[in-house]
Amino acid sequence: MKVLVIEDNKVLNNTLVRSLQNNYDVYGTTDPEMALNHLENEFVDVVISDIKLPKINGLDLLKKIKEISGDIHVMLITGYGTVEEAVDAIKSGAYDYLLKPVDIEVLKLKLSQISETINIKERILLEANKVNIVYNSSVMSQLLAFAQKAAKTDSNILIEGESGTGKDLVARFVHENSSRNNNSIISINCANFQENIFESELFGFKRGAFTGADRNKRGLISVANGGTLFLDEISEIPLPIQSKLLRFIETKTFYPLGSEGIEKSDIRLITATNKDLNTLVKNGGFRDDLYYRISVVKIKIPPLRERKEDILPLAYFFIKKFKSLNPTIIDIEEKARSKLLSYDYPGNVRELSNIIERAMIIESNECTITGTSIITEKTFGHEEKELSLSDIEKRHIMNVLRKNNYDKVKTAAILQIDRSTLYRKLKEYNLQ
Ligand SMILES: Nc1ncnc2c1ncn2[C@@H]1O[C@H](COP(=O)(O)OP(=O)(O)OP(=O)(O)O)[C@@H](O)[C@H]1O
Ligand SMILES: [Mg+2]
Repeated sequence: MKVLVIEDNKVLNNTLVRSLQNNYDVYGTTDPEMALNHLENEFVDVVISDIKLPKINGLDLLKKIKEISGDIHVMLITGYGTVEEAVDAIKSGAYDYLLKPVDIEVLKLKLSQISETINIKERILLEANKVNIVYNSSVMSQLLAFAQKAAKTDSNILIEGESGTGKDLVARFVHENSSRNNNSIISINCANFQENIFESELFGFKRGAFTGADRNKRGLISVANGGTLFLDEISEIPLPIQSKLLRFIETKTFYPLGSEGIEKSDIRLITATNKDLNTLVKNGGFRDDLYYRISVVKIKIPPLRERKEDILPLAYFFIKKFKSLNPTIIDIEEKARSKLLSYDYPGNVRELSNIIERAMIIESNECTITGTSIITEKTFGHEEKELSLSDIEKRHIMNVLRKNNYDKVKTAAILQIDRSTLYRKLKEYNLQ
């Protein structure tokens, strides 16, 4: 955790810095302007500031700090005479205040509370994303054993595989099994950004770097410090950013946009692609030097059709996952099983998940999913001729429900029917 001390009394300033430097990364200054300058150039977690300073008053300083970054925890130091001012400061966003003479033990306690809340926030994010990989095939078992070994090193990893094979999941698995698992994994999908926005997201920017940059913004490379950076769909990264990324990989340093101050970040890089990067390299769409840097370790996830032993365990896993859609279902009828096993899943595990979710919704049988409820993209076309009008109605209701997160009020409104009619139809079609 980074702490900045702003105190014009040199003795107090030194005491504060010295008593905190064993536990935190502390910088002290007696000059508020220097302090603001420091905040513009560094990402600080906590500011401890005197309320009475030369040239600027505490409240104005607080406002300026919050303008630079809203995430900074500001703790003000106040004498008895200025307590009211400190209370006002809390109303305008200060985190807390300390009374003079400063009790170092109280200060340390407060700082450890801040550090704890920052950690808890990160841990909650991690918990929400616990990785659960389901498999039965020996290829997946070998792949995961290899991934686990690779996770213990700090090598850059490239995960290859068709869409929906579980690249995201394996990236998180690697992070969870690495020594960096106390820190976050930051994921970025390279296909989601335009070139200039991508660059500022990745490297961050300083206030004034471009029109609209009215605050400092920390780049994701810096946020991932100590943890893992996961760049998904790496083939989509524009060439100019490829060279910047390469330089970062080689030096572990980078410049935020509009900044002349070099910054460090210690990350493990995981990248993923569903394209053949080798061909892209040959066509000049991807830098070969970057390719070699990111693919020190390669993990290739086979498509689902090449590991059919995983289909049924996954199907049962998804039945549990979607239990609330149809709580009595616990099994898959033989005919449905063979339908699942003979399909080729162009959309891989994601498609299997959709097939089971759909089956859970339309199944009218009590305990098992039956063959007719297994509707794959391919069978859909064939079966169309045999569908009755009520089949179509049932499917349409199901689709609208799904698209609206099973919100029945919304669904009734979209279908332009009364809520009571919707409830009746849901009962009739066993969609509840
Ligand atoms: N082995 C598995 N066990 C459990 N769930 C899985 C498994 N493989 C994939 N999934 C699930 O299938 C879905 C697709 O997986 P994921 O997003 O990891 O695929 P991807 O390869 O990253 O796809 P894309 O190329 O489209 O980004 C997710 O909901 C994921 O949780
Ligand atoms: Mg993905």
